[in-house]
Amino acid sequence: MEQKLFGAVDDYISLLFNGHDEVLAATEQSIIDSGIPQISVSPNQGKLLNLLAQLSKAEKILELGTLAGYSTIWMARALPVTGKLISLEYDPKHAAVAQKNIARAGLNKVVDIRIGKGLDLLPKLVAEGAGPFDMIFIDADKPPYAEYFEWALKLSRPGTLIIADNVIRSGKVLDENHTDEMVTGVQRFNKALAASKAVTATIIQTIGAKEHDGIALAIVK
Ligand SMILES: C[S@@+](CC[C@H](N)C(=O)[O-])C[C@H]1O[C@@H](n2cnc3c(N)ncnc32)[C@H](O)[C@@H]1O
Repeated sequence: MEQKLFGAVDDYISLLFNGHDEVLAATEQSIIDSGIPQISVSPNQGKLLNLLAQLSKAEKILELGTLAGYSTIWMARALPVTGKLISLEYDPKHAAVAQKNIARAGLNKVVDIRIGKGLDLLPKLVAEGAGPFDMIFIDADKPPYAEYFEWALKLSRPGTLIIADNVIRSGKVLDENHTDEMVTGVQRFNKALAASKAVTATIIQTIGAKEHDGIALAIVK
């Protein structure tokens, strides 16, 4: 019952503030048509990412976990024409769907999708001097979230905004004896984030169209 209400309120907010968007609707449809998991951020979360990118005056954004490019499009739309967004994706099928969606959104020149494992691609970004990024969105596989955070710091400058999605997992993070590596991965990340002297951070619980979860926000000192 509550989940139904949270979903309806999420729809209400999205209709009020986002309206109908052909490009994003086509991106959502591409996920269904290609049979890839429907695990993009929600429309209101996408809008939040867009606002955070604007607040950060971001010119360079790094994303871990492209899927079909839904969050990528929301963030890339906040960039100036000279801006750059690099998105890392392990699954070539997801990357191919995303590439079409990015092209439809007219963002080909802004978005650079790199295919491979995050932990293989991140050292390459450091080696090529791709950073520092103004905003980094961590939304790939959960077990190495703490390692992704360490690499994100290497690709940051003071003031970089680091965001990580799905860090509460319906409250499963409260169970210290949980064995699911998706849960233990974010537990490790949350502890590392809280203990890090390099950032000041918090987590916001999220409800709405998606199950109860949370988004971590950190500013590099
Ligand atoms: C939650 S989805 C990303 C959703 C996307 N950010 C959005 O909101 O539209 C996670 C993505 O991370 C990718 N992924 C999984 N393991 C990965 C890895 N080791 N390196 C990079 N990407 C990975 C998955 O294939 C999937 O497309």
